[in-house]
Amino acid sequence: MTSTAINLFTKRRTQYALGKKLPISEAQVEALILEAVRQAPSSFNSQSSRVVVLFGAQHEKLWNITREVLRLMVPADAFVKTDAKMDGFAAGAGSVLFFEDEDVIKKLQADFALYADKFPMFSEHSSGMAQYAVWTALADAGIGASLQHYSPVIDEQVATTWNIPASWKLRAQMPFGSNEAPFGEKTFIADDLRFKVYR
Ligand SMILES: Cc1cc2nc3c(=O)[nH]c(=O)nc-3n(C[C@H](O)[C@H](O)[C@H](O)COP(=O)(O)O)c2cc1C
Repeated sequence: MTSTAINLFTKRRTQYALGKKLPISEAQVEALILEAVRQAPSSFNSQSSRVVVLFGAQHEKLWNITREVLRLMVPADAFVKTDAKMDGFAAGAGSVLFFEDEDVIKKLQADFALYADKFPMFSEHSSGMAQYAVWTALADAGIGASLQHYSPVIDEQVATTWNIPASWKLRAQMPFGSNEAPFGEKTFIADDLRFKVYR
């Protein structure tokens, strides 16, 4: 069976070898990211996801902040690898920062008491939906990306550098850029370990 959606899902892969040569303009990338987040579903259509898009020098600043934070935490001999990793992310054209707005979650908890304990989980799910939508939209445009998690150690500096509201909680970082190497091999576990179908 051929499916445009499945072909697209297959095209989305983790890319660490990033470059700065985007196949479309920054304005088009920005529009793509914003629309992907708008169209991503969220619990009660709460639209709890918040996104900051960084291009060029702003994007490089993110990975230098992360590098310097990690320099203080990682043993010197292991930092060589960390340093190279940061270089790899900074080599890209931009980064997407994904946040969830805690004020939205608090309001949902107040408005829908029955689900109060579920809203933090729904928020995490909604963030994942937004992340996947953006990652897939970038892949469709021929742009490589990976998903990174340097929260909470970079939160404070991210907040002060880009004027982030206190209620926005950083969830993930997605460096993106041109694909500068083939994707790695992807393996799959046996279907009978993960699927059950009854009819
Ligand atoms: C929830 C989630 C968290 C992830 N966290 C990281 C991460 O912190 N660093 C990283 O390099 N990749 C991260 N990844 C990427 C996975 O390692 C990757 O998606 C997986 O190996 C499958 O490869 P693919 O993306 O090429 O399909 C994450 C992926 C998901 C879905």
